[in-house]
Amino acid sequence: MKKIIIAIDGFSSCGKSTMAKALARNIGYLYFDSGAMYRAVALYCMQNSLIIEDEIDTESLKRRIKEINITFEVDPETKNSITYLNNINVEHEIRSLEVSRYVSRIAALDFVREEMVDRQREMGKAKGIVMDGRDIGTTVFPNAEMKVFVTASAEVRAQRRYDELTARGDKADFNEILENVLQRDHIDQTREVSPLKKADDALLLDNSNLTREEQMDWLIDVFNKLTEEC
Ligand code: CDP
Repeated sequence: MKKIIIAIDGFSSCGKSTMAKALARNIGYLYFDSGAMYRAVALYCMQNSLIIEDEIDTESLKRRIKEINITFEVDPETKNSITYLNNINVEHEIRSLEVSRYVSRIAALDFVREEMVDRQREMGKAKGIVMDGRDIGTTVFPNAEMKVFVTASAEVRAQRRYDELTARGDKADFNEILENVLQRDHIDQTREVSPLKKADDALLLDNSNLTREEQMDWLIDVFNKLTEEC
């Protein structure tokens, strides 16, 4: 069967990553988390004093962007993807609320996007991938055979992020998370370069009231129909 590219875009914390990972596992495709790349760049800035008094030192970041090596490996036990920043496992750190606070501003920088989009296209060369993000179906792979745009209400998304953080033992405040979700939605939708928007040919999936199983059935159904046509 011909391999395709699956682009999953949507708002923050709507369960895209979990869904994309599970789909990739089900159909034997590779999964790439484009958000993890932007998060790793944000962490790099935090670790290298490129954020001073809440301001991003964009000139230094621009000079050093090629030094930021981001790779993914699959955990042999959990089969989950692990993000490495310059060969160090940062999977846990990049999910912190502190990284979430800066990531959207960093992801709005044109030279950061250019660099990450180039790297993402390279990852998709052989097809057979599921990639999730904000601009995968619009900018990274405009010709992706399967495009899904996921959404859910801001409250449902904040609750999911709250559950995720508390489940791993982190302290979390629901209102602070909701505010972060709304703020990132705003930055993502209004930025000049590749703003978050549904591609015309993407299928809309509102998962506010769907179970994971219902969602997976829907995805597999779409995938089967599309690959039968290929
Ligand atoms: O997990 P969550 O959906 O909250 O976010 P993420 O996928 O980890 O992405 C973190 C942030 O990176 C987003 O809020 C966007 O600002 C940015 N991002 C982006 O601009 N383009 C992408 N393709 C992926 C993420």
